Amino acid sequence: MSKTTTKAVLALASANPHKLREIRQILAPLGYSCLDLSNWPELSELPETSGTFAGNALQKARALHEHCGLVTIADDSGLEVDALGGLPGVHSKRFTPQATGAANNRELLRRLEGQSRRRARFRCAMAVVGNCREEVAHGVCEGSIGHELRGDQGFGYDPLFMPLETPGKSMAELAPQEKNRISHRGRAFRQLPALLQRLFENRYR
Ligand code: IMP
Repeated sequence: MSKTTTKAVLALASANPHKLREIRQILAPLGYSCLDLSNWPELSELPETSGTFAGNALQKARALHEHCGLVTIADDSGLEVDALGGLPGVHSKRFTPQATGAANNRELLRRLEGQSRRRARFRCAMAVVGNCREEVAHGVCEGSIGHELRGDQGFGYDPLFMPLETPGKSMAELAPQEKNRISHRGRAFRQLPALLQRLFENRYR
């Protein structure tokens, strides 16, 4: 069994248990561990008002970094559906007033009723803030929206999302490692070592 040595402890500006689990699984083999928002209960909602995934990720990472001083990472992510002009996009979490996976998926199926154009993608922006610098990485997972809910893994829109790379299987039918291998989040967060290198490189050599 391979042993991973921890290189660094980072702050992670998220309280979403599903995201936290996935991000920790993606970062552990790279040697990073994370302190999540539960370590700073005095911080309630972080700002998320920019209108873009990258802008929101930066807002969240900046807010926690200013508070705790640690190098901080944050992700903002969501689903873009072509037939809905890119919606729900940055509004993925609050696509319905209930803001639950079940309600959001029901609403998505309703809006796509009778629609044969079902191309969609998950996007993730990961921001890193520290050492008076900021970097952002992006990850995309292309796919389409199914006609029924399938699978019980993952969270959010996973039961409706059919990745191009796993024909016949929804994202919620994939084992966690399989999802992380192809997911928008996996693709963004695996760039972390390169981003940290840029954050700490000496630009005045
Ligand atoms: P955020 O916390 O503002 O980034 O909200 C992202 C929202 O997008 C989540 O609440 C989900 O509805 C959706 N989402 C993002 N990533 C995923 C994923 O990996 N699977 C399913 N839904 C996702």
